[in-house]
Amino acid sequence: MTVLILPTIQQDSDNSDFTQRRDMMEKATLIIDGKTYELPVVVGSEGEKAIDISNLRRMTGLITLDPGYANTGSCTSSITFMDGEKGILRYRGIPVEQLAEHSSFIETAYLLINGVLPTREQLNEVSVLFNDHSLVHEDMQIFYQNFPRGSHPMGILSAMVNALRSFYPELPAFGEEINITVIRLLSKVRTMAAMSYKISRGHKVVYPRPDLSYCANFLNMMFDTPVKPYPMDKDLVQALNVFWILHADHEQNCSTSAVRLVGSGRVNLYAAISAGIAALWGPLHGGANQAVIEMLSDIQKDGGNFRRAIERAKDKKDAFRLMGFGHRVYKAYDPRAKIMKKMCDKVLAKLNIKDPLLDFAKELEAAALKDDYFIEHNLYPNIDFYSGIVLRAMGIPTNMFTVMFAIGRLPGWIAQWKESIDDPKWKLGRPRQIYTGPKEMQYIPIDER
Ligand code: CMC
Repeated sequence: MTVLILPTIQQDSDNSDFTQRRDMMEKATLIIDGKTYELPVVVGSEGEKAIDISNLRRMTGLITLDPGYANTGSCTSSITFMDGEKGILRYRGIPVEQLAEHSSFIETAYLLINGVLPTREQLNEVSVLFNDHSLVHEDMQIFYQNFPRGSHPMGILSAMVNALRSFYPELPAFGEEINITVIRLLSKVRTMAAMSYKISRGHKVVYPRPDLSYCANFLNMMFDTPVKPYPMDKDLVQALNVFWILHADHEQNCSTSAVRLVGSGRVNLYAAISAGIAALWGPLHGGANQAVIEMLSDIQKDGGNFRRAIERAKDKKDAFRLMGFGHRVYKAYDPRAKIMKKMCDKVLAKLNIKDPLLDFAKELEAAALKDDYFIEHNLYPNIDFYSGIVLRAMGIPTNMFTVMFAIGRLPGWIAQWKESIDDPKWKLGRPRQIYTGPKEMQYIPIDER
């Protein structure tokens, strides 16, 4: 079988908007066994192109095969733009660097979910709603208390977010009321995360305070105790704001795709987000921030021998990888990691902390960036490389790191879920496969085998 895909009619060269451009699409010509098929080419607002194969099987009887979906666009989206080669990340068009410098996490969440920056009045309204919905049903504490000691907080968070549906059954599937559900989820998730930490330590739960901002409230719920009030520090509150802004969305990554895929079965928002949390837990994805600290601690135990870690990462017979290095999309320095690295120095200086893990991290990074293997494979530090050190300095326990990532990613998951339900072409997610098992065989009764 011969297959050729040729770009044809180049109609579009102006900078008209995406909807206009969709109507004057380029076409790709696919030739299979001498038969020609024309496939539309979809062009995004930044000029990215995709061959639309949604009718391929109907037209040709063939499907595409793309393990890990590395070359597959699962949707069109107007939320986040990434250019992995140039190290660009923008939310609704705004560079993440600008948001990290000037915005707050809640303002960024509003931007992602609603598509525009809020006015001061809108932001105030949202803050009031956040306070109104910040408490968690008291009965939920019983659940927390009954998880076995040592349960991972990500498993607990995923289960508890799913359980919200039982506590708040009035959740509408669609429509106006969704806004309240969204606010409720964003507000409660931070209370739930802090509550699970307090309960895991056997401490009294601290309730949210209406006079504190989103990030300050979280730190207070985590660390305030009746004997030692939490000394609120505006620089740490700002560091947490930046940490969460940097994590707020990252287009169609593993957990976001899980949210969209699970959501496409028309489950409620809580169930879709719970699936996203479960997906994020993995060490190749959000769990990498915990894995980086564990790796750096192992290097410390190995007498600081970071070169051994590099050699192991290069050895194809060893499953070990440098955690916090590499990215499916970024083939240049992760723009979030640059900001995180600077923040790491700032937070440690502010708290007057000398963390030997930061020294190992810097030495490891410098050595890896000079190493031929890492250069050839375009492996740069990603956001998780430095984020764990920042969280450690703030006093966040290692097993809560991925929970911190999950709180940050929540606006992105919600925005992507909302975008999918508003899409008139929203379809059940259902990939196909190429079957490689046995051909038809006859059943053999058990005594004859
Ligand atoms: N250490 C050593 N080798 C690596 C690494 C690494 N961290 N990452 C990729 N490679 C190699 C890999 O062995 C392969 O080599 P070869 O082509 O010679 O067989 C090549 O690079 C491509 O790897 P891949 O696994 O096919 O690439 P991918 O796009 O699927 O990988 C990744 C992306 C993030 C899963 C991978 O880089 C990795 O495992 N990194 C470590 C875990 C990590 O830090 N994850 C956090 C990602 S950022 C947070 C988020 O957004 O989720």
